[in-house]
Amino acid sequence: MAIEIIEKGSVCLSRVAESESHGENSPYFAGWRAYDDNPYHELSNPSGVIQMGLAENQVSFDLLEKYLEEHPEATNNNTCGFRENALFQDYHGLQSFRKAMASFMGQIRGGRAKFEAGRVVITAGATAANELLTFIFSDPGDALLIPTPYYPGFDRDLRWRTGVNIIPVHTESSNNFEITPQALESAYEQAKANNVTVRGLLITNPSNPLGATIKKHALEQILDFVTRKNIHLISDEIYSGSAFSSNEFISIAEILEARDYKDSERVHIVYSLSKDLGLPGFRVGTIYSYNDRVVTTARRMSSFTLISSQTQQLLASMLSDVSFTENYIKTNRERLKRRYEMIVDGLRKSGIECLKGNAGLFCWMDLSGLLKEQTLEQELVLWKTILEELKLNISPGSSCHCSEPGWFRVCFANMSEHTLEVALTRIHDFMERRKLVKCTN
Ligand SMILES: Cc1ncc(COP(=O)(O)O)c(C=O)c1O
Repeated sequence: MAIEIIEKGSVCLSRVAESESHGENSPYFAGWRAYDDNPYHELSNPSGVIQMGLAENQVSFDLLEKYLEEHPEATNNNTCGFRENALFQDYHGLQSFRKAMASFMGQIRGGRAKFEAGRVVITAGATAANELLTFIFSDPGDALLIPTPYYPGFDRDLRWRTGVNIIPVHTESSNNFEITPQALESAYEQAKANNVTVRGLLITNPSNPLGATIKKHALEQILDFVTRKNIHLISDEIYSGSAFSSNEFISIAEILEARDYKDSERVHIVYSLSKDLGLPGFRVGTIYSYNDRVVTTARRMSSFTLISSQTQQLLASMLSDVSFTENYIKTNRERLKRRYEMIVDGLRKSGIECLKGNAGLFCWMDLSGLLKEQTLEQELVLWKTILEELKLNISPGSSCHCSEPGWFRVCFANMSEHTLEVALTRIHDFMERRKLVKCTN
């Protein structure tokens, strides 16, 4: 996706339009621009920039394409359904789609959680879902707590149009970046000291840049915390199907079910097909709230951000085909795990370690040993070297608000295995060159 740089003009725009909280002036997006200017191509540009900063899932496209080939009726608009489809704009969405989505959400969680179609609110991706919930819970100046490292897009999605602040909940490598009650409490107290009202906590499970799921005990502590503070909990679970096995991922829905849905009215799950099915361009997201007022309000607000009826129709058909979804979920998980092992092994051979992951489309790589000093400034110096010398776009931890310097998020599912091998070779050669320089100094 191209990011444009816009110069200030002489005609005034609104405060929101002029504000800097769009979050695009971060190395996360600068790296994308560097890729757009000089994209790697195996044949036509083998020395170009390899995009390892984009969490796309392209490893299972062949399965989706096969389904489409075998089911032309799913996309066929020349049938008598055309007129109905063309006129359909009900913000409840197609019933068949909501039903299929609710059932798929249960299936991808290993059948351990159940979802009612009546609680599914459709939105144009998780981006819209997260912003919509922020609008529903908060007024301008209020805050949401988010554990770090977090998806850099949140700086735009949750803050820009809503006027809401993000207060980071800091986590540390010494305990594998786990979210602790102390860290939650400390972020909450910090907000209080600054007279800021905290409206909710947003967790990304396993959608955080760590590529690791949140453990059961941590989820329980999180639920206890939001209940004690009387705030909302948004659980962004858009990578749930990327957990290498369904048993490794525990949804907040399972914790609620085990508690007989006590305190569930403050819990809201965000889900989208951008990562699990690799369809970010289809803009398919959902809010699943256990709170009736939130469901009704979110549905009304979703008028601004609906999914086209054509897309709903296609996905209703695909997601209700259980033999397809079973095979897809299983194969996609196996392929992601294989990719993960490939990159982690390759990096280890170059002397680089990663946090132990079990999900996601990326790994969390520790390059702190390469920093001249343990500062975020030096992290950016290294990031620039990797971008300009190795022609690899990876995301520095600071762009994900990680407070410990030297960590980087590296995506591995948006390219072919061959391209991943090229990237690993570039890293290997770079590390060898560094060793040589060290020896001769
Ligand atoms: C944690 C998280 N939430 C939301 C999104 C946005 O997803 P969508 O394409 O569904 O809007 C992303 C995309 O990278 C993400 O990583």
